Amino acid sequence: MKKEKFEFSFEVYDSIDELNENDKWLLNEARHVTKRAYAPYSKFYVGAAAKLSNGKKVTGTNQENASFPVGICAERVLLGAASSLYPDTSIETIAVSYQSTIVKSDHPISPCGMCRQALQEFELRMEKPVRLILAGMEGKVYVINSASQLLPLAFTNEELNPLTP
Ligand code: THU
Repeated sequence: MKKEKFEFSFEVYDSIDELNENDKWLLNEARHVTKRAYAPYSKFYVGAAAKLSNGKKVTGTNQENASFPVGICAERVLLGAASSLYPDTSIETIAVSYQSTIVKSDHPISPCGMCRQALQEFELRMEKPVRLILAGMEGKVYVINSASQLLPLAFTNEELNPLTP
C-alpha cells in the first residue's frame, strides 16, 4: 500500500483593493452582474465575469426555476455563453461574486461540484487553465490558478476513449 496526497495553494487577499487593476475590474464586473441573476427561490444572486484570451468579456448569472433542479449556476451559464459566442476561445480568468437578501456577502464562495466538473472539461478542451477570482461583495478574495485544482481525481473524457488495438 502507498499513500497519495493532493495539495494546492491559492492566494488570499484581504480585500479587492489588493488586486491588480485587471483583476479588480473583472471582480467588479462579477459583482455588478449579480443584479442580473434570476434567483427568486434562493435569493442568492451569483454573478460571474470572464476575460477571454481574445480580450472579450463574457458574463453569466444563476438562472433558477420553479422546478428547482432545472436551475443553473452562474459559472455554467457563463461557460455556455462563452463557448457559444466565441467557440474555441480559451478563458483566462473568471471572477465570481454574489449577493443575497438573506445571508451576508462578506467572504468568497467556491464553485459547486457540477461547475467544477464543467470548468475542468473546459480547461481540458482548451488546453489552458482557467484562473478563478472568488469573492463576496466585500471581504477576502481568493485567487486560484487553475479551476481543475478544485477537482482532484476528476472523471474525464479519457475514460471514454475506445481501447486502441
Ligand atoms: N450558485 C451559483 O450560481 N454558483 C455557485 O458557485 C454556487 C451556487 C447558485 C445556484 C442557486 O441558484 C443558488 O446559487 C443557491 O444555491
